[in-house]
Amino acid sequence: MKILVINGPNLGLLGTREPDVYGAETLEEIVGRLVALGRDLGAEVDSFQSNEEGELVTAIGECRGKYDGLLFNPAAYTHTSVALRDALAVAGLPCVEVHLSNVHARESFRHTSMTAGLCIAQVMGFGPTSYLLALRGLVDYLNRDTGES
Ligand code: DQA
Repeated sequence: MKILVINGPNLGLLGTREPDVYGAETLEEIVGRLVALGRDLGAEVDSFQSNEEGELVTAIGECRGKYDGLLFNPAAYTHTSVALRDALAVAGLPCVEVHLSNVHARESFRHTSMTAGLCIAQVMGFGPTSYLLALRGLVDYLNRDTGES
């Protein structure tokens, strides 16, 4: 089983970016924890980060046939991007939307997600643990037909 973790704009700056909101862990450290957890769960985890909407669209478009599922933190594009929503629809892969912060407890412009309707679930508010919980959920979801856990 192969999972791609996709992170949108400014998430490459985790660790130094508003640590009171997003925590002190870097994206590299979070991805390292996801790769290790994936190994325990029988999933190979790859990672992609971009600040560019078009690059994210292209990455999602290239997932079909290569990956079984996606973890996706679209960051600010969550709230604005029809293009990313359409890319998820084309990819047709199970996707879990992830946020470090609880976007519903923040400014009202963060309360809307363009992408959530194309996802099987959202996990948010647990900081880096959101990603780990999302990976567990996605792997369980992908194993549902085989009866594995
Ligand atoms: C975020 C929440 C978004 O509103 C914000 O623009 C981000 C990070 C999160 O992980 O909490 O960049 O996606």
